[in-house]
Amino acid sequence: MSGIIGYIGNKEAFPILINGLNSFEYRGYDSMGIVTLENHQFHIFKTTGKLSDLKASAANKNTSGNVGMGHSRWATHGEPSEKNAHPHVSNSGRLALVHKGIIENYDILKGKLINSGYRFNSQTDSEVLINLIEEISIKENCSLEEAIRLALTQVVGAYSIIVMDRDNSDIIYTARKGSPLVIGILENAFYIASDTTPLIPYTQKVHYLEEEHVAILESNGSFSLKSLDNDKITPFIQALETELEEIEKGGFDHFMLKEIFEQPKVIQDAYRGRMNANEGWIKLGGVAEFSNRINNAKRIIIAACGTSWHAGLLGEYIIEHLARVPVEVEYASEFRYRNPIIGDSDVFVAITQSGETADTLAAISLAKDRQALIYGICNVVGSSIARVSHAGSYTHAGPEIGIASTKAFSTQVVILILMGLQLANYRGTISKTQLHQILHELENIPHKIEQVLKVNDTIKEIASQYYQANSFLYLGRGLNFPIALEGALKLKEVSYIHAEGYPAGEMKHGPIALIDENMVVVVLATNESSYEKLVSNVQEIKARKGKVIAIVNEGDKVLKDLADHIIEIPKTEEILSPLLTVVPLQLLSYHIALQKGCNVDNPRNLTKSVMVE
Ligand code: M6R
Repeated sequence: MSGIIGYIGNKEAFPILINGLNSFEYRGYDSMGIVTLENHQFHIFKTTGKLSDLKASAANKNTSGNVGMGHSRWATHGEPSEKNAHPHVSNSGRLALVHKGIIENYDILKGKLINSGYRFNSQTDSEVLINLIEEISIKENCSLEEAIRLALTQVVGAYSIIVMDRDNSDIIYTARKGSPLVIGILENAFYIASDTTPLIPYTQKVHYLEEEHVAILESNGSFSLKSLDNDKITPFIQALETELEEIEKGGFDHFMLKEIFEQPKVIQDAYRGRMNANEGWIKLGGVAEFSNRINNAKRIIIAACGTSWHAGLLGEYIIEHLARVPVEVEYASEFRYRNPIIGDSDVFVAITQSGETADTLAAISLAKDRQALIYGICNVVGSSIARVSHAGSYTHAGPEIGIASTKAFSTQVVILILMGLQLANYRGTISKTQLHQILHELENIPHKIEQVLKVNDTIKEIASQYYQANSFLYLGRGLNFPIALEGALKLKEVSYIHAEGYPAGEMKHGPIALIDENMVVVVLATNESSYEKLVSNVQEIKARKGKVIAIVNEGDKVLKDLADHIIEIPKTEEILSPLLTVVPLQLLSYHIALQKGCNVDNPRNLTKSVMVE
């Protein structure tokens, strides 16, 4: 996850910044950079390696200056590379910037700057921002402070930024929106950071920068604060109270909970710019060259592991239903051990959050050897799988820190839905009316998830009754079967309770023998097409004294009387329903694990990227 730091004062900035970047290392990064300033000259150091490589690159070079800033990057726009690493410098070379966050409208801003003659060295949204600031300062002939404020009013998205001016080493500027930033107050010096960790050794006095405020910090100890509208604000200095990671958790107790609650936003990020509900088009980027092969694929093979495999199974249901293309879903870890039939008329879709899963990489390698087209659905920009794929789509879920995948899964499902709709549109297997209807409803999903998240307290209460249970069964039919599998996996991972997901119709073929008063059964009964059958399943479970937690549509009457607990969610198009049904299951796992006292963000024996086969 990206982090930024800045220093201005009476000491050498470089070693202070190195210490700061060191304290960010625990969160992972793909590149780092530092700039210091002295005698109207920036000293810039960047690396795609470790912090030790950054230090080595600066050895025997001039690093001096009492002002500087640093950045650890987790790529969002553009692959990890020295060019894309921060700091970024404006076209004239006068301004430098480090940025954490995402500028959503960077493409539009970039286009305008290109028309005005600006050139870009990187693929980042951040380089666009520093050039926008430069352009405004020149065009409006205004102070840098004003140019920063004006530029930020044009920006859509989240940012915390630090800006330096080559022509003035006595001032540093910082601003934020939707991304945390804290200013440490030292004796005639300031230390800026995107979380409190780097500040701890230096000061206890801090100002937490508010939304859309710009701070102007000077080497003589002057601290002024403005709103974007140019109103002066008095800084509020307080004791440093927040511990490691607290700010980044954005007020949530755990990353897992934060990431569950981020789903309305990241789902929007996943479909934004890739569809237009009114005009009825879908355009997944990164495929242009291969669109013919994708559209005319004889078969799609999806390979993935864990949660990403569950998204893949949904992909099979969704794509076959919408586009009538045969789809097969494979465990990536099994694929190359069974001499699969695969060739150049197949499209091989690899789904992965990390983009580094060794099993998925190995499966891709086999599929590539057999001439299949590789389509990667990845979250981590520039990851190994993103690089070895011929074509693909990023999921834009942002960094997922909790080991149990939540928001990454939902964004994978969004991409698969768009893929299914795009193919269906091309093949004429969906009517224009249906297409508009589904796309419009997709735009309602973020709001509907917000409604689902309101059942958090109810779920916490249900969890308090079952956190000591030994075994859970999750049942669903159709699109709810992969969700049953995902619910069971989530519970196993974070609470260490045995759980199994089953197609509800299979219960009578075996698992029914397990049911007694100690078995908790989570039943997914939101889809009209299988509702009656699920009701029969619940009757069978109750007849054997099992406990039933039913996920139902709002206004459900029948299961309300039969189940021990019901969790109501809003109605939606059946094809989109997994995006809603998964949310209460994620929350249930979280609360059960918490009440059991488990480490929800770092469950035992698990790691975020499984880089061994
Ligand atoms: O990074 P990937 O999506 O390739 O990872 C695949 C699995 O290792 C991953 O989904 C794992 O199952 C998660 N811990 C699930 O929460």
